[in-house]
Amino acid sequence: MQNNHQVKKVLITEEQLATRIKELADQISKDYAGKNPLLVGVLKGSWIFLADLVRAMDLDVEVDFIAASSYCGGTQSTGHVILTKDLTANCQDRHVLLVEDIVDTGITISHLKKIFANRKMASCEIVTLLDKPARREVDVEVKYAAFTIPNEFIIGYGLDFDEKLRGLREICVMDTSTIK
Ligand code: IMP
Ligand code: MG
Repeated sequence: MQNNHQVKKVLITEEQLATRIKELADQISKDYAGKNPLLVGVLKGSWIFLADLVRAMDLDVEVDFIAASSYCGGTQSTGHVILTKDLTANCQDRHVLLVEDIVDTGITISHLKKIFANRKMASCEIVTLLDKPARREVDVEVKYAAFTIPNEFIIGYGLDFDEKLRGLREICVMDTSTIK
């Protein structure tokens, strides 16, 4: 599938993904040693990353999922985010890690953090596969980022364009000139 005409180039290979995700998993396992954190995957983009992260961790964790949808109000940049799927687990007194595919403008994850803020968690931190700081519009503290990437549109390893191309095994830059 890497030969797909919409792939401009491979940005992060499978090997680089595995190495870095193991490093990140070791760091989180160390930081949460003796705890049983609740890893909350933000659907849909994070599911492949979450599956690999959990299997690389040396820690008993609980996994749950949420889904969010952003609605743009008067101005595009202050798009409002609502939960379209909430947690099944009770997160009160839990150490929660929100697991994202990418922090781009930061709007989605900062809204999610606000939604979670009144849920009396023991802690709440953000883990992201990709961080694209050049596009940031709101300040948000990302505790764990696997890769910081340039301002390009990414597909593969869970990330989509128009619900397609999530199954690419590597993280690829999309050839946006192919968009009709
Ligand atoms: P935000 O701009 O930080 O709120 O990011 C919102 C969401 O847009 C992310 O969780 C992704 O699902 C999606 N997104 C942002 N940048 C990209 C990209 O380069 N490729 C695919 N999806 C993206
Ligand atoms: Mg996402």
